[in-house]
Amino acid sequence: MTLSRYRLGSSYYPERWQEERWAIDAKLMKDIGFNIIRMGEFAWSKLEPAPGNFDFAWLDKAITVFAEQDVQTILCTPTASPMPWISAMFPDMSPTTEDGNFCGPGQRRHYCYNHEGFLALSDRIVMHMAEHYAGHPNIIGWQIDNELGGEEFICYCHKCRLAFQSWLKGKYGTIGELNHRWGGTFFSFEFRDWSEIPVPRGHQTRYFNPSFRQDYLRFASDSMMHYLYHNNAILKKHFPHLPITTNRYTLFWSDKWTNKFDHAMDQALDVIAFDNYDLNPAVSAFHHEFYRSIKKNRPYWVLEQNASTIAFGTRQSDIKWQTVEAFARGAELVCLFSWRQIHYGVEQDLNGIVDHNGNPGEAYESFREVSKWMMENEKFLSNCKPRVEVAILYSYESSLVYEVNPLYNRIDYNRELQDQVHRAFLERGIGVDFVRTRDDWRVYKMIVVPLCITGDEVIIDKLEQFARQGGLVVLSGDFLQKTIDHWRSEGTRIASIEELTGLRHDKMEFLLQEGLAAEFLSSVSGRNYPLRGFFNKFSIIPDRDVRIIGTVTKPDSEAEVPAAVVRKVGEGEVYTLASMLDRNYLQELIAKHASELGWEQVILPERTGLVTLENNEGKRQGYLLINQREESISIMLPGCAELVHIEAGGFELIKEIV
Ligand code: GAL
Repeated sequence: MTLSRYRLGSSYYPERWQEERWAIDAKLMKDIGFNIIRMGEFAWSKLEPAPGNFDFAWLDKAITVFAEQDVQTILCTPTASPMPWISAMFPDMSPTTEDGNFCGPGQRRHYCYNHEGFLALSDRIVMHMAEHYAGHPNIIGWQIDNELGGEEFICYCHKCRLAFQSWLKGKYGTIGELNHRWGGTFFSFEFRDWSEIPVPRGHQTRYFNPSFRQDYLRFASDSMMHYLYHNNAILKKHFPHLPITTNRYTLFWSDKWTNKFDHAMDQALDVIAFDNYDLNPAVSAFHHEFYRSIKKNRPYWVLEQNASTIAFGTRQSDIKWQTVEAFARGAELVCLFSWRQIHYGVEQDLNGIVDHNGNPGEAYESFREVSKWMMENEKFLSNCKPRVEVAILYSYESSLVYEVNPLYNRIDYNRELQDQVHRAFLERGIGVDFVRTRDDWRVYKMIVVPLCITGDEVIIDKLEQFARQGGLVVLSGDFLQKTIDHWRSEGTRIASIEELTGLRHDKMEFLLQEGLAAEFLSSVSGRNYPLRGFFNKFSIIPDRDVRIIGTVTKPDSEAEVPAAVVRKVGEGEVYTLASMLDRNYLQELIAKHASELGWEQVILPERTGLVTLENNEGKRQGYLLINQREESISIMLPGCAELVHIEAGGFELIKEIV
């Protein structure tokens, strides 16, 4: 028996094993219900052993060996690891890091997106593979490269510098315009010619002009996006009907990896895919909802996920709930990393489903159970989708502002969205979509707008309409306080903000001094909540129906300083906070509006997760409940006749609800 609607399987590297072993692995996979493998992303040296000499015979054979066991292939373009002869041919194709280091071969992703020589060779292998495999019955999808943007690679090389100069020319037209928009009079950063423009690299990067750095991040993101689109176009020509994607990674892997690319770029791909290694259920849920939202109402893929316990003490249960959660949250494919533990290379200590000795490990039996569970529940799950009620506005441009302006205002945009905003809803069992300005917001009941520091009137118009039609809007402080060029404005930047909020922006203050405990008191609940990062002082415009519902209690002030206000707009309401959003305060707002929004009370303990499943008509069909705690839990869920009890580390699909 095998899964029909869903796909489950693993990465596989035939180039690392004896050919005789492939059939054994294929059989082992089939025995536990796996129906896909992902191959090829690091196999360039075997596919093109000498310049222009291609050898696909071994890969053809591997695809067939697995297909004989009903295991179909997701093929990858192999460009993530260019081999030494390419690097020797183009010594300047290796990226240069922010601090000026050179990244040569011996690792991976050591190429620059703006190196024409590398790009030509990359095109050549991708074209040859596409031509060779066009129409192949056992290839069910493509992955482009591997984790584009990963490995901390924003390149600052000379080629990038030249490409950046022409990118800027296209954007600004005249050097005078660039000087003006970058605020060149500060620190004498004024250019006479495009050729003088450097890249923001070197000592004290944080002290660079933020408009300059922000443009460099946009340029780097565009370079990568161009590479992705270009590869996509080559593959599309030969595979017009197959899903083509790339595997993105979670947003918190490394400080340096966050925010460097526009997630909207994935929109051009047929299917959205990401790699999920985070075993914290709150972080895992955030990424599922984040990536699922890029193409709303379309299934997405998880192209890498823990295939085994990654550290001593991690439980087998982790790899089970993570797989099941993905399917319940809307993924249609989960591919694990990796099948077998390798004896050599930098990843030799990572566990696999099959151990070094070739024998199935503990995880093998775990995945047999997961497959069996999926087969039993496939029909139910495929008739359901996760219920979503709330939208969080994701502003890539705002994430860049916080990324490049950390001098006094060091805020981790993505972390705030995950830990303070998304988690507030997760702990109340409420499904969330991440939306952008252009999306249709009418399907939601509430939209939260955290740290949206830059943007234009369109956002305000849409929020106003959303509220007029009965929606709830929650704005954090800093709302549209900066221009797209990273200038802070005097007073309210866009007049219509005052129309929406009923507030006039007076001043921004930082709240970052050590030991400064800033708080506000909610007049609704009588509870205190922290003020963090910054504080917006605003005055209330008279006769606009604005009510103060929170005032600053720390530090002490003689006057009443508003920290939270609400204004009735049409049938809905607009909340404005003076500082960052706080998870507990958001939960106060959820509780306040729950009955009018039809939200039944659910309070989930930390390290648990809940997906409410509904059918296409919006009727609730059941839940997936996950318990990652060290002890069992018993929870009352709406529609269930009795308490749901789940053991430590367990999960349950609840279908019997009224
Ligand atoms: C991923 C990468 C894989 C493998 C894995 C190890 O980031 O795509 O190739 O290196 O990490 O955990």
